[in-house]
Amino acid sequence: MLPTPSQSALDPAGTGAESIATLFWWMVSGGALIWALVIGLSVYAIYHPGQHDPKLTRRLVIGGGAVFPTIVLTALLSYGLSMLPELQRPAPDGSLVVEVSGVRWWWRVRYLQSDANVAGTGERLTQQATSDQESTLIDDPGGRDDSSFAGEVNPDLDVRSVEFVESANELHLPVGEPVEFKLLSEDVIHAFWIPALGGKVDMMPGRVNRLKLHPTREGTYRGLCAEYCGTSHTQMMFDVIVHSRESFDQWLLNQEMAADVDRLPEQGLALFKSIGCGACHTIRGVVEAASVGPELTHFGSRLRLGASAMANNEENLRRWIRNAKEVKPDAAMPSFETLSDEELNALVEFLGALQ
Ligand code: CUA
Repeated sequence: MLPTPSQSALDPAGTGAESIATLFWWMVSGGALIWALVIGLSVYAIYHPGQHDPKLTRRLVIGGGAVFPTIVLTALLSYGLSMLPELQRPAPDGSLVVEVSGVRWWWRVRYLQSDANVAGTGERLTQQATSDQESTLIDDPGGRDDSSFAGEVNPDLDVRSVEFVESANELHLPVGEPVEFKLLSEDVIHAFWIPALGGKVDMMPGRVNRLKLHPTREGTYRGLCAEYCGTSHTQMMFDVIVHSRESFDQWLLNQEMAADVDRLPEQGLALFKSIGCGACHTIRGVVEAASVGPELTHFGSRLRLGASAMANNEENLRRWIRNAKEVKPDAAMPSFETLSDEELNALVEFLGALQ
């Protein structure tokens, strides 16, 4: 059984979400109090018609209509502003840095190589951004001049020399540690949101936005796109698995490994190559050039497929390969309806073996 990911901002599992939940409950309580006061006064007025004390009315209008809202709104503004410095402070040096790009309608995830990301020893295979990816990152699809952007263009945009381990549509984080996210978009505006861990941040083409999260509880959480970005916006989700440092290190170490060609089912491997899957998908150790579609080196280990459109099982995978657009309208994944059952099964077996 798949773990049911928590998607509630009111069941916080991170420091950011805790602040948001606290603020939410303060506002709900305050709102309820004012609502009760207004209703009480209305009821009083209904049962005491004709009684009119100009002095009291003036006091109510000035006090309740001007002074009280000014005090409450100023207090809320101050509280909100007091939270900003902590939100803006980058995670301490050596923290885990994860770059996430929004692509219609999935997520490219890159674990940048820093001390905190590097787990243990072992054969480590990292990649360099290809010239293709560079232009994707730096191109402005709107064709605008960089100078027309409101706000600064972050110098961290230049990730060309940074080494990373790429994955897709699933995030793994260690518990109890701050994580620094670099958020990008490769096409339109998306928004990155893990309600149980913290606030959402837009992903804009042509710039890097940052977000710091600090998970405090192990578990599986739901992340999603919170900005309408086209037909399949509602199916642009991901699982966030927060685990202990040890288990996270193990996971990352596995991610760094390329696929072991000798241990993969031959028929499916041959098919993967011959029908052109490698034109869009990279499987390190098998086909390495493309970055149009999600990276698949460890696809079999992911909980869900199609950016959380469905559980990652054989039946769904067959359905996805046959006709992805039936599940996810306008997805870039082509249909392979001409594959025989035998071919489809071989392909599914091969993809499942990518652990
Ligand atoms: Cu991406 Cu909505």
